[in-house]
Amino acid sequence: MRKRLCLGMFQFSDLSIPVVQAPMAGGINLPKLVAGVSNAGGLGSFGFAYSSPEKIQADLQATKALIKQVPSSRIQANFFVFQESFLPSASECESALRDLNDILSPLGIFAELPKQPFIPNLDAMLEPIWIERPEVLSFHFGLPSSAVVDKAHSLGIAVGVTATSLAEALDIQKRGADFIVVQGIEAGGHRGTFQMDPHFPPDQKKTLKDLMADLKDHIHLPMIAAGGIMHGHDVYQAMQWGAVAAQMGTAFLVAHESGASSAHRRVILEHRDKKAVFTKAFSGRWAQGIQNQFIEQMQGKAVLPFPIQNTMTGAMRRWATENDQSDYQSLWVGQAFAKSRAMPVSELMTLLHQEYEDALQAFNQKGS
Ligand SMILES: Cc1cc2nc3c(=O)[nH]c(=O)nc-3n(C[C@H](O)[C@H](O)[C@H](O)COP(=O)(O)O)c2cc1C
Repeated sequence: MRKRLCLGMFQFSDLSIPVVQAPMAGGINLPKLVAGVSNAGGLGSFGFAYSSPEKIQADLQATKALIKQVPSSRIQANFFVFQESFLPSASECESALRDLNDILSPLGIFAELPKQPFIPNLDAMLEPIWIERPEVLSFHFGLPSSAVVDKAHSLGIAVGVTATSLAEALDIQKRGADFIVVQGIEAGGHRGTFQMDPHFPPDQKKTLKDLMADLKDHIHLPMIAAGGIMHGHDVYQAMQWGAVAAQMGTAFLVAHESGASSAHRRVILEHRDKKAVFTKAFSGRWAQGIQNQFIEQMQGKAVLPFPIQNTMTGAMRRWATENDQSDYQSLWVGQAFAKSRAMPVSELMTLLHQEYEDALQAFNQKGS
């Protein structure tokens, strides 16, 4: 049985296909992608972690304009819960900067130590949310304050948080959130881990299926499964593990309406034999993406804490995107990226729906 959220709020059971297009910060979630998913009966999402309040408001308004024709369409807005970072000792900073610049100087790029504040102001970023009121608000890397949860609820906005362990899921439940995104080890992008020391390498043996099983008997909130879900029958399988919907990132990266860079798309589609690996080299936190030269060159090198390292590699990543260079940008993907299909988002949603229905029918036939 599907678990339900509070009355009046968005319910996952309202979706005509239990698919959430994952929030993906960094320019991937363009309004046409988000609206395309929502108009097709899924939940389209924005990863607003690095966006200015003005951009957040503009993106939400542009998306609303695109979904006006389909009144049941919904939008999710997602943010990082940044923890205040402190610069390590001057010698550690110098050594990290030297290592990075040894790699970057042959490219004509020079990294600098960022100035404080290292983290954006979440309260200011949430202002447009209280005005535009997307139906769903979610957080990655930690718990929102109780005041934020209460404010969202007072406006009828459902709140979700990413968990990568049972302990995190129990904390999310206690905080009064409405749903949990269960992020398996297969997932692309940053691990949402917030209880363990973020420097501790992720446990690569525990699969999404194992994690769902850990949570199932302890969590009464709706669970959204994330990680390695690429096709409609994967969505169906995640529902069998106890999920009410599947959150899919990589599957949407190569949709025609995605804002992923051309190099990112090219490597996903043309280098299906490459490896997805975990690295802290780009941002200072563990994230999964396709192995490239920068990750290899950074092996054994010093890395500063998130998001300081992320800011320091910003110039390099911008240069790589502008120059269509795949070796110096973060190519975040989940472990199943080789199953990606490039097509317009409306076609992808139709295909996912069809595959999901086929899996459901096959199960019903087996049972009858
Ligand atoms: C390029 C990229 C960027 C991501 N950015 C975010 C983000 O901003 N917020 C978030 O909650 N999750 C983010 N994620 C993680 C997704 O929410 C989700 O856990 C993951 O995509 C699921 O695995 P899959 O990529 O195999 O589908 C990102 C994932 C990718 C691939």
